[in-house]
Amino acid sequence: MRKKIVAGNWKMNKTFEEADELLFDITKRLENLPSGVQLIVCPPSVYLELATDIVEEDDVELKIGAQNVSEHDAGAYTGEVSALMLSGMNMDYCIVGHSERRKYFAETHEMLAGKVDRLLEYGIEPIFCCGEVLEEREAKEHFAVVKAQISDSLFHLSYQEISNVIIAYEPVWAIGTGKTASSAQAQEMHAFIRNLLKEKYDEELAGEISILYGGSCNPGNAAELFANTDVDGGLIGGAALKADDFIKIAQSF
Ligand code: PGA
Repeated sequence: MRKKIVAGNWKMNKTFEEADELLFDITKRLENLPSGVQLIVCPPSVYLELATDIVEEDDVELKIGAQNVSEHDAGAYTGEVSALMLSGMNMDYCIVGHSERRKYFAETHEMLAGKVDRLLEYGIEPIFCCGEVLEEREAKEHFAVVKAQISDSLFHLSYQEISNVIIAYEPVWAIGTGKTASSAQAQEMHAFIRNLLKEKYDEELAGEISILYGGSCNPGNAAELFANTDVDGGLIGGAALKADDFIKIAQSF
């Protein structure tokens, strides 16, 4: 059975004190989660050690992920963080190819393929984001866009490698806008993605990979989205910045 996952992407938010408080508030509420749901928090990289320390000290079932990684191994790449460094901090997951990174940091399909490779080399599971912008959906190009994002950055992976990847479908027009994809739109794209995996690998693998929905997911709409056969959870931005909302979303399965 594939994993049910709720991952929080904090983006570039929270002071050190606020991050500490939010992590504390989340860990306090973990007992209220339905069993079998994996909760992941992805804070800014400067708070990763704080997060792993809290998880270790309190011995709680919370996984920590980074928001980005370099596609390079090591060297003169000022400001970058490598997969080796993340593995040294016991990272379990790392977001790759978020639409904000594609847009503001010009991340290409090829760079993202490199990031995925580096993470897998060090045993860190990539949470690979894909999704179309509004103009692409209006032009009915959304399936072709998502297909290219996935095949160009993931389909060089072996069967074994891709089984350690989580995919997050995040229609860009739904991110931070309050405009969620309808439950039917989410299911349609998730089924499409699962079918791509089936065609490239096989049905068993396609059935094992978790596909998360992201884009204005909140406690009010999570249950309807997660009720879809091919929606295995969510990648949450704004609503992950409040412990109550984040936990309520994780309780929506
Ligand atoms: P949002 O962000 O939930 O604030 O729309 C989701 C994301 O960007 O991962």
